[in-house]
Amino acid sequence: MADTKTSENAPSGFSRRDIIKGVIAAGAVSSAGYLFRTTIVRADQNAAGSVERLMTLNVNGQERRVDVMKQETLAFTLRYKLGLTGTKIGCDRAECGACTVLVDDVPHYSCSVLTHTVRGKKIETIEGLAKADGTLHPIQQGVIDEQGFQCAFCMSGFIMATTGFLKTNPNPTRAELAHGISGNLCRCQDYDKILTALMRGAEIMREQDHA
Ligand code: FES
Ligand code: FES
Repeated sequence: MADTKTSENAPSGFSRRDIIKGVIAAGAVSSAGYLFRTTIVRADQNAAGSVERLMTLNVNGQERRVDVMKQETLAFTLRYKLGLTGTKIGCDRAECGACTVLVDDVPHYSCSVLTHTVRGKKIETIEGLAKADGTLHPIQQGVIDEQGFQCAFCMSGFIMATTGFLKTNPNPTRAELAHGISGNLCRCQDYDKILTALMRGAEIMREQDHA
């Protein structure tokens, strides 16, 4: 049955149904306007915050072109874009140190560094330590000599952290080195042997420097 009731304030000639239809139609128009406005704002935000995805990274002395997402971590880029899987991801939240690499000679947790922030910086990973002829870096040799790790998942991080630490203190005491690399954790908890191996590596490095 047709609804022909009108409210007191409704203009004459309009039914209650006409008014409700008008409100719904107006709401739809308002929503469309709101959505449209939102779209414009988001487009503006993207333009303002956008970054050039294609970038050049200096990794282990090589210029590497790579397509990097805005939110991508350096650990992700190294492992999954550049194939440098020697850098491990353990916790992925700046707690274990397995992902440690050098950025301009300073150890960093690469899981907690956005790749776009290291443009123009020098990245060094475990793959870059040995010489081109295969001669191991002194710290790597120390690990071989002392068999310092069990499963070795944490090894790359420890070696990179030690390499960075020795750049500032090439002749540390055992306690100083332990403190210097205390940001690295080992799930096998083989800390004593690890430290012995890294101290041996530091010793080899000093011997080579004075040879
Ligand atoms: S994976 Fe980066 S600190 Fe653990
Ligand atoms: S040797 Fe296994 S995690 Fe360190």
